[in-house]
Amino acid sequence: MRPFDIIKKKRDGGILSREEIDFFIRGIVDEEIPDYQVSALLMAIYFNGMAEDEIYQLTSSMMYSGKVLSLSDITGMKVDKHSTGGVGDKLTLTIAPLAASAGLHIPMISGRGLGHTGGTIDKLESIPGFKTNLSIKEFTRNIREINLSIICQTGEIAPADRRLYSLRDVTATVDSLPLIVSSIMSKKLAEGIDGLVLDVKTGSGAFLKKLEDSLALGDMLVRIGRRMGKKVAAIITDMNQPSGYAVGNSLEVAEAIEVLKGKGPEDIRFLTLNIAAWMLKMGDIATEIGDGIRVLEDKLRSGEALQKFRELIKAQGGNIEVVENYNLLPCAKIIKEIKGEKAGYIQSIDTEKIGIAACMLGAGRLKVDSPIDHSAGLIVRKKIGDYVERGETLITIHTNNKDIIPEAESFILNSYVIGDKCCIRPPLIHKVLN
Ligand code: URA
Repeated sequence: MRPFDIIKKKRDGGILSREEIDFFIRGIVDEEIPDYQVSALLMAIYFNGMAEDEIYQLTSSMMYSGKVLSLSDITGMKVDKHSTGGVGDKLTLTIAPLAASAGLHIPMISGRGLGHTGGTIDKLESIPGFKTNLSIKEFTRNIREINLSIICQTGEIAPADRRLYSLRDVTATVDSLPLIVSSIMSKKLAEGIDGLVLDVKTGSGAFLKKLEDSLALGDMLVRIGRRMGKKVAAIITDMNQPSGYAVGNSLEVAEAIEVLKGKGPEDIRFLTLNIAAWMLKMGDIATEIGDGIRVLEDKLRSGEALQKFRELIKAQGGNIEVVENYNLLPCAKIIKEIKGEKAGYIQSIDTEKIGIAACMLGAGRLKVDSPIDHSAGLIVRKKIGDYVERGETLITIHTNNKDIIPEAESFILNSYVIGDKCCIRPPLIHKVLN
């Protein structure tokens, strides 16, 4: 078999066989197939899509590209959550410690920023000392001892996704249903979980912007998960504006800690409670979503969820003092207000542009191996339905790169549509597929 023939077959709209997919994935992991051929196949998949059987096979080959954990010696249900990617989406940072404080075991393998969206691993690494590249032994020990561990893709678990993920990020091939499904499910199913709750984003800041496409993505994620013998639910959540206010790694960590303290933005709290309640239901800790939410509210009120976050930071080598003192997180030198040019109600926000502006300011990568500025990002001051006076602040930017400010500012101003009519905010949850 030759990579060339597989690329050509997909380019011409063919259906790849199990052997062809396995061959290509092995070549990716062994580094026998160079980046340019992997990128060419990604683009062919982007344009021609994949049938369900191909997606299933791709997921399976990627999952078995490394170790598949068995956590059977840890008693209790192992349930994880994963987001398809958003702007200001810090829900993993709130949901994981909260659900773990309610008794769930959460083995979590997460990603870095992808395209215009942020990644949990980059966010956690903004906590001084926090290690995300634990060995499998350390990972399982933490799950056993504190119910929770969050690590990045290693050379051991789903290594194929690690290479594909970083190539997709720089070749404009992120927003493809088969590539999203196989990326998420291969690493999640390698974790040794019993169940998975997927937060499928829809709207201007999501990879798939139309509700019908997000529903199709949710449906495929659930189908592939079930074919692999797992309990799976997909919650379609709104991404027509940034989640919460903070966008950018250390800024989001601070906002997530506020939510764990029982404060923080209302949308983040609502989604945290609802998604975590689905996890408790899947893990047989709650019979109904309402019961789950009540259990979780107690964990926030009692401080147990915040304590679990401290335990996570400590177990992974980070400085737990950040929980009390946000100044210990990286802070940007330049803070500037971006002001609106007209008065009126915020009608819509092109959230992808906001994500791109945050990346430009330093919060994301331009190339596979570009460094990231953990302190960079922005704080959204006005959201859909808010009234803004002319000259009032829409967004506050945080950066260390003064040269990029004019371009980021124009992205931000172009993302807001301000008009005369009063308008209502979109619903936070559109649908649950289970
Ligand atoms: N999250 C992932 O892990 N992979 C994707 O492709 C998108 C979001």
